[in-house]
Amino acid sequence: MLAHPDLIRRLAEARENTDELFQLVHPDAFYERPIPERHRILFYLGHLEAFDWNLIARYALDRPAFHTEFDRLFAFGIDPPPGQLPSDQPSDWPRPSEVEDYNRRVRGELDRLVDQVPEQYLHVAIEHHLMHAETFAYILHHLDYRHKAKVEEPAPRTAAMPSPRMVDIPAGTARLGRTPAEGFGWDNEFTAHEVEVPGFAIGRYKVTNGEYLEFVREGAAPPFFWVERGGEWYYRGMFSEIPLPLDWPVYTTFREAEAYARWRGKSIPTEPQFHRASCAAPVSRNVDFRRWDPAPVTADEGAWQGPQQLTGNGWEWTSTLFAPFPGFTPFPFYRNYSEPFFDGQHHVLKGASPRTAACFLRPSFRNWFRVGYPYIYATFRLADS
Ligand SMILES: [Fe+2]
Repeated sequence: MLAHPDLIRRLAEARENTDELFQLVHPDAFYERPIPERHRILFYLGHLEAFDWNLIARYALDRPAFHTEFDRLFAFGIDPPPGQLPSDQPSDWPRPSEVEDYNRRVRGELDRLVDQVPEQYLHVAIEHHLMHAETFAYILHHLDYRHKAKVEEPAPRTAAMPSPRMVDIPAGTARLGRTPAEGFGWDNEFTAHEVEVPGFAIGRYKVTNGEYLEFVREGAAPPFFWVERGGEWYYRGMFSEIPLPLDWPVYTTFREAEAYARWRGKSIPTEPQFHRASCAAPVSRNVDFRRWDPAPVTADEGAWQGPQQLTGNGWEWTSTLFAPFPGFTPFPFYRNYSEPFFDGQHHVLKGASPRTAACFLRPSFRNWFRVGYPYIYATFRLADS
């Protein structure tokens, strides 16, 4: 009898999910580095299993190492400050087949130990895999099309062009964070607390490519996901370039979002404002790996008359700096999950993207990135305080 059958099944599913992603990469492309600020693809092939091994076998169960070099090489990702790009060479890394051997051995050994693993570590391993299912998807997004297999993307629901308007949110209490009794969460989600939020207005829809195009025509730089060819704008999708879909949300950095909001005489919502606006709102259909690219901002229109797609169809930047909640304590087994990023350089994102797993749709989950990081599935909407 397995101790945690549900968690063991979820870990197996999370592994399958990330395995499928690596199968999209052509065999000759594992040393590519699609994003200059991140590791080469090969790192991620070893990272997921090295993380589980270091956490579960080494830290939790004190098992002897069988490959200390890989345990260290694949232990941590990177997030360098602007101007400090990594300079490693392909020859600094092992062959993919060596990493696959390591992964097989790790999985085999962990599967024998899994009954002894405290539940919290299994949650961490599962959610870590699924976080990388998203972060590796956006890295793969920027890999040259000739280096990856093409997946047929289901067509998004067609929808009416949005007519932008603001929705009033009355003054009230926002509940942020969670308590241990509510189940697993990462260190930065603790603990639950309430914040009083004065009344404000928020965009019914995310800002669209079409609206942002007006800003670009006024002289703003185009977002990283756009490319201009022969005077026409295109969206660089996961598997192909398509004429810029004017009713899809625009992917931007926080700096671009903030500049756009200022240009419109508005602001970017704070984290508590996002909670106030989203507490009763339904989740978008475009989450949990259903699509690779966005859908129209009106695609979830239905009975709900409030703000659309707060959770789904693209993370949303907030104007809140990533900082600890009152009572924050780092996980002793993963001290660097949140704490190094409380540095005044990272902003909180809320909601979810098309590539965000269902487990992260809980309201307390917080994402964060550098304010000028342009590669992610990050959208925004306007607020008026
Ligand atoms: Fe990681």
